[in-house]
Amino acid sequence: MKCPSLLHTVIPVLKVISLLTAVVSGDLGQKQKKPPNIIFMLCDDAGWNDFSFHGSSQIPTPNIDALALNGIVLNSYYVSPLCTPTRGAIVTGKHPIHLGLQHYVIMGASSGGLPLKERLLPQYLKDRGYSTHLVGKWHLGHSAKEFTPTYRGFDTHFGYWLGKQDYYSHISIDGKDSDGNGCWGYDFRNNSEIHRNVFGQYE
Ligand SMILES: *[C@@H]1O[C@H](CO)[C@@H](O)[C@H](O)[C@H]1NC(C)=O
Repeated sequence: MKCPSLLHTVIPVLKVISLLTAVVSGDLGQKQKKPPNIIFMLCDDAGWNDFSFHGSSQIPTPNIDALALNGIVLNSYYVSPLCTPTRGAIVTGKHPIHLGLQHYVIMGASSGGLPLKERLLPQYLKDRGYSTHLVGKWHLGHSAKEFTPTYRGFDTHFGYWLGKQDYYSHISIDGKDSDGNGCWGYDFRNNSEIHRNVFGQYE
């Protein structure tokens, strides 16, 4: 990673397609058969027709098309219309109404997050001998370290805690929460540490 310094410049936040990419690799080591590696990619805000394999003539997606053509396409699979509830459901296996996440997303000034009593998918995978890595967006809580990815089953996280940011500046401009608090700031981490080295780089 190159090291440009962080400039305090307001750069409009693009409405981004953010990726949560979790990579887990099996490493049981012992006599047991090695389990398969698992790569889980979650893409927010993708439209039905944003992929060539669904007919888009504007957005070529050859790699995603190849995955689709070699896999199973679930054409009647429904998720919540927002990122935090969807992500909460995926890592817990519970409907967001059982997580208190059914209404909206977690804002920068929000306290709380995905309830700490929940045990998450990466924690179960670690029980099975997997190492677990998260790249990209989290958006399941950040108000205390216990809510953040490396305290919730991921060995490492390289990415950001909030819901959206500029691809290059990694600055997030949050709307106001129900108490009227908004946020503006740099949000990119290597595990728990602020990672400024990617300022100005597409990550
Ligand atoms: C992230 O931090 C770890 C140590 O916690 C370090 O080994 C690694 O090189 C860092 N990654 C980057 C991209 O700087």
